[in-house]
Amino acid sequence: MPSPVSGFSKKTKAEKIAWLASQYLEQDLHAIEILKSYWNQDPKLQQLHDDFIENTLTNFYLPLGIAPNFLINNKLYALPMVTEESSVVAAASNAAKFWLDRGGFQAQVISTVKNGQVHINYFGKTAELTAFFNQIKPILIESIADTQRNMQKRGGGLIDMILVDSTKDLEGYYQLHCTFETGDAMGANFINTCLESFANTLEKEATTYNAFEAANKFPEVVMSILSNYVPDCTVKASVTCKVSELAQKNISGEEFATKFVRAIQIAKTEPRRAVTHNKGAMNGIDAIVIATGNDFRAVEAGVHSYAARDGKYTSLTDACVEGDTFHFWIEIPLAVGTVGGLTRLHPMAKVAFKVLQQPDAQELMKIIAVSGLAQNFAAVRSLTTTGIQKGHMKMHLMNILNQLAASSEEKEKTISHFTNQAVTHSAVVTFVNLLRN
Ligand code: MEV
Repeated sequence: MPSPVSGFSKKTKAEKIAWLASQYLEQDLHAIEILKSYWNQDPKLQQLHDDFIENTLTNFYLPLGIAPNFLINNKLYALPMVTEESSVVAAASNAAKFWLDRGGFQAQVISTVKNGQVHINYFGKTAELTAFFNQIKPILIESIADTQRNMQKRGGGLIDMILVDSTKDLEGYYQLHCTFETGDAMGANFINTCLESFANTLEKEATTYNAFEAANKFPEVVMSILSNYVPDCTVKASVTCKVSELAQKNISGEEFATKFVRAIQIAKTEPRRAVTHNKGAMNGIDAIVIATGNDFRAVEAGVHSYAARDGKYTSLTDACVEGDTFHFWIEIPLAVGTVGGLTRLHPMAKVAFKVLQQPDAQELMKIIAVSGLAQNFAAVRSLTTTGIQKGHMKMHLMNILNQLAASSEEKEKTISHFTNQAVTHSAVVTFVNLLRN
């Protein structure tokens, strides 16, 4: 039975592992060895990773792959992708190649406004809070003068703040709704620092405001935090070609376009399908968000809430045929940065930025949106033609072989055998056993 621990964060990595082994790993020497074997050889580099979070024991690897041949606004990119899912990079590469031959991807940033709120309780008269807010607004703005100086030099900073009366939804609930430009930073720290200054200043000013004193009703800050719902920080990516250019092996362009557009309409109509449909796009989006050291939970939260912005969860992508032309596009909110956070700290993220030719935040938004569109294209294309399992299981074959600890020779023979055979777990096991006997 494990016992509680105190002062855990003060222990060295080796001590933490020893504690874990004694309490939860039954002194499993193999597990201890694995944990330590993932330490970086270079102590300085390991220290860097140790410091990213609290209580680091070791590192957790995910593969970083490259999907080449992405033509975006006439510029050729190779996309660094970090993912655990075997078919994602292959699917992205296929989609990139497909569209490379058909004019590539177009992408444009629509807007870059982020937001955050100071959430307030106030049980007095709305008119009094409004008058107070109007009076102290310049003081609130002044309170972040130092904080936003550098951001302003880079063209960012506070855009505006308004008092929102949300008492219809929740008694006594008001918000200071603030909008920001954060340039090449994702901006979470900047926004949260500004919001906390507003909150402190607001409460301080309230203590000496006559109308509040007279009624003995003061506004009280509940919390101050940015919102990951960023419907005004959006990017659009698209592809277009003649319907006839969509012709593939066993399917005419017209038939493919009809099936493809129908699949999108289904995702737009049925939330159950939309969630999986969008998950396919997120396969492409998250992989680059992670490779560039950005906050994938923020992106996930923002994108899915955007997909439900009209009250019903729906597809992030859309498609249509107009005359003889096929159009396919995605529009998503993306709060990502090319400075700040881990973006310039994680050595792999730095390499990823180099591969991407040092994009600014807007360029990165475009690249990520394109990756999402490409991934969704690849998934829907497979689903409406061959089915997804053929490609998926082909890619999964190597995972099965590794589970079976197959040798290089066994791998080679199995891959060759399954070139024209359906891959299933049991078929692979049978084949490898046959080889071994
Ligand atoms: C699997 O990771 C993603 C798909 O399920 C997406 C989709 O169904 O569109 C294949």
